[in-house]
Amino acid sequence: MTALISPSILNCDFTHLADEMDKISSADYAHIDIMDNHFVPNLALGAPIAEAAIKASLVPCDAHLMIEQPDRWAPVYAEMGFASVTFHAEAAMAPVKLARELRAMKVRASLALRPGTPIEPYIDLLGEFDQILVMTVEPGFGGQSFLDLTLPKITRTRKAIEDAGLDVWIQVDGGVSRETIERAAAAGANNFVAGSAVFKAEDAYAEITELRRLASAHM
Ligand code: DX5
Ligand code: ZN
Repeated sequence: MTALISPSILNCDFTHLADEMDKISSADYAHIDIMDNHFVPNLALGAPIAEAAIKASLVPCDAHLMIEQPDRWAPVYAEMGFASVTFHAEAAMAPVKLARELRAMKVRASLALRPGTPIEPYIDLLGEFDQILVMTVEPGFGGQSFLDLTLPKITRTRKAIEDAGLDVWIQVDGGVSRETIERAAAAGANNFVAGSAVFKAEDAYAEITELRRLASAHM
């Protein structure tokens, strides 16, 4: 299995958005964080920037909605042109209904869990999703340290997916770098969001290649 690398543009240079999107053309997805200042204590990337990023991106875009009322807003992002839409379990009223709605729009449906949210209540629902995002930091900001305490949840999620014979991706997001990506891969993740690691690197292309190599060796 080859690891998927999804750079987060949260802390890229927005004065040169198209150039920043070009830098990650060897990635698998471009990860776009949407924050409403209610679900998380930060406000980021409204619809005009999200649309510009999709337009400038050479790879499919993945929306990470850190917002309240995703039941209402996630379909709007699907309509916008995202290939994958992630909404949070803690915010969704009807996650199965919403995932079905997204899939009907031919968009990958992804369920995110904050570090303190267990996977267990969602085990029987796994087949409704294309991906589970296990947050490896508290959502809201880039540049935080990877929380190792989330690793057992990744392992349990991978086991539950395998036991059910499903093809559900596990994405990790937060503090993913050359130092941490191997642990996340060994635990069972296959899709790796990396913000600072990619955009602070001298050479984003080389960083993406190295992250993919390190993770793939453990999958
Ligand atoms: C944080 C966002 C992340 C963030 C990751 O809540 O969801 O996608 O950009 O940034 P790094 O890789 O720097 O931790
Ligand atoms: Zn994110």
